[in-house]
Amino acid sequence: MSGTKLYEGKAKILFTTDDPNILLSRYKDDATAFNALKKGTIANKGEMNCAIASHIFQYLETQGIATHFIKQISPNEMQVAAVKILAIEVVVRNIAAGSICKRLGIAQGQPLKHPLVEFFYKNDDLGDPLITDAHVAMLDLATPEEVAQLKQLALDINKHLQAFFDRCNLILVDFKVEIGVNASGKLLLADEISPDTCRLWDKTINDPKDRIMDKDRFRQDLGNIAEAYQEVMKRVLAT
Ligand SMILES: Nc1ncnc2c1ncn2[C@@H]1O[C@H](COP(=O)(O)OP(=O)(O)O)[C@@H](O)[C@H]1O
Ligand SMILES: [Mg+2]
Repeated sequence: MSGTKLYEGKAKILFTTDDPNILLSRYKDDATAFNALKKGTIANKGEMNCAIASHIFQYLETQGIATHFIKQISPNEMQVAAVKILAIEVVVRNIAAGSICKRLGIAQGQPLKHPLVEFFYKNDDLGDPLITDAHVAMLDLATPEEVAQLKQLALDINKHLQAFFDRCNLILVDFKVEIGVNASGKLLLADEISPDTCRLWDKTINDPKDRIMDKDRFRQDLGNIAEAYQEVMKRVLAT
């Protein structure tokens, strides 16, 4: 049935439409961090992230990246292609921040020699653990061909996003993407790209806390959270 709630996640709700190949993704103001141990809301986040994600999906399409985006239909809703989401969260890092610093003893803010692609098992009960290609095969999360495509796709997306955010005077520190498989077996960039899923630092600010323009302001209780999202939206929509 059209308009049935398929799934309510932490940041979005997915609804069916009258076309089985199309879903409606409604962005929420809810914010969570540390595997939902920390919960809150960010004023207007749903509309801001929907606007940011819509703009970035369209930009990536112009750069030859296939995405699930179809069209934005309201301030906080977009139509997307229905896909089977791979249970792999693909993270690309340009600068060390967050979990990798703890895991490997690297200093926050350390630039990486090459962009690093990491896979995490998308499983909230397990806390989304880091996995290797061998685990992907063992758990049957993707075929070896898909793994190779995923890595190349992640690096291509990184290249385009780095260039885009640079024009916004933002440094793309790292980001997470989810990839889906459509009815024809083609990989599509799905889910969302927003300050919830990217670390973005203001290029013109040196202070390590003041420059943070993403969900780390919420994670670390840095204040001015909605203001940072608003500023990112302003710059993204103008670029
Ligand atoms: N095009 C799509 N087709 C099917 N599922 C999708 C699509 N895009 C995103 N999803 C899924 O929708 C869910 C809702 O998003 P979100 O609120 O971020 O959930 P979560 O709490 O699992 O992170 C996610 O599990 C995501 O994988
Ligand atoms: Mg999510």
